[in-house]
Amino acid sequence: MTQRVRKAVFPAAGQGTRFLPATKVIPKEMLALVDKPIIQYGVEEAIASGIEDIIFVTGRGKVAMEDHFDLSPELDALLEKRGKKELLAVSRGVASLAKISSVRQPEPLGLGHAVLCAKDLVGDEPFAVILPDDVIDAQTPCLKQMIDVFNEKGGSVLATMTIDGPAISAYGVLAGSRDAHNERIYNCSGMVEKPKLEDAPSNQAIIGRYILTPAIFGLLEKTQPGAGGEIQLTDGIKALLREEKVYGYTFEGKRFDAGDKFGMLQATVEFALKRPEFAEKIREYLKGLAL
Ligand code: G1P
Repeated sequence: MTQRVRKAVFPAAGQGTRFLPATKVIPKEMLALVDKPIIQYGVEEAIASGIEDIIFVTGRGKVAMEDHFDLSPELDALLEKRGKKELLAVSRGVASLAKISSVRQPEPLGLGHAVLCAKDLVGDEPFAVILPDDVIDAQTPCLKQMIDVFNEKGGSVLATMTIDGPAISAYGVLAGSRDAHNERIYNCSGMVEKPKLEDAPSNQAIIGRYILTPAIFGLLEKTQPGAGGEIQLTDGIKALLREEKVYGYTFEGKRFDAGDKFGMLQATVEFALKRPEFAEKIREYLKGLAL
């Protein structure tokens, strides 16, 4: 019997430099995609996947994120006084979405270090990692798909997608082979963080969803700075691979890089098209543009 995945870690201490000037004061996780901050999409995905405890790894200037998921007594009193029942439900709904704890990453030492900061809050059990920049639109939440694979296989699971060409160098990349019985599952034999195109071991890029066993923490403690001089999660998982099975999983769904300006624009158009109150209007609007 595998242990249940109950906790999800959200590394959210980064500076968001790819989105300046919007992120000069506002945490990138709080940028709105249609009408919700991008981190809320990740939190909702986690909850819809059966996660009970959310752990934010934050840094300086990130309190807005915690406030967003807390009660807002002044706003709620105002909405109540004005009889805005629906908005009051929206505001209170966000606060009751999830049980959230947070821990600070004092210095930006890398994604592997950020995950390590959550060690005491996670404890000795398997857990999920969600990178909030990666917003995934899927019929079955991506994390739920991965938890199902974890429950079946019992080893760590990394979300992957196919990226052809030089763009692969922005990702962690898997080495390994497809499972004989399920072509969405990849038996991992290695991985490299941000390889040059000619050094990439495959076209399977790691996307920001992971299910990891707690053995990762001891290994991250020993992981030396790698690509970009940072303690990389990919290098920690590479060490884990020597001790346990690790699987890649090509999820069903579409991923948007909402931490990137163009990725956010794409997500905005596609998410608006999916919202009943905007779908027709945005379609008409786009058709009317002289492109
Ligand atoms: C991180 C990981 C990388 C992964 C990517 C997915 O990189 O280090 O392995 O492929 O997220 O979004 P970052 O985008 O933080 O540079």
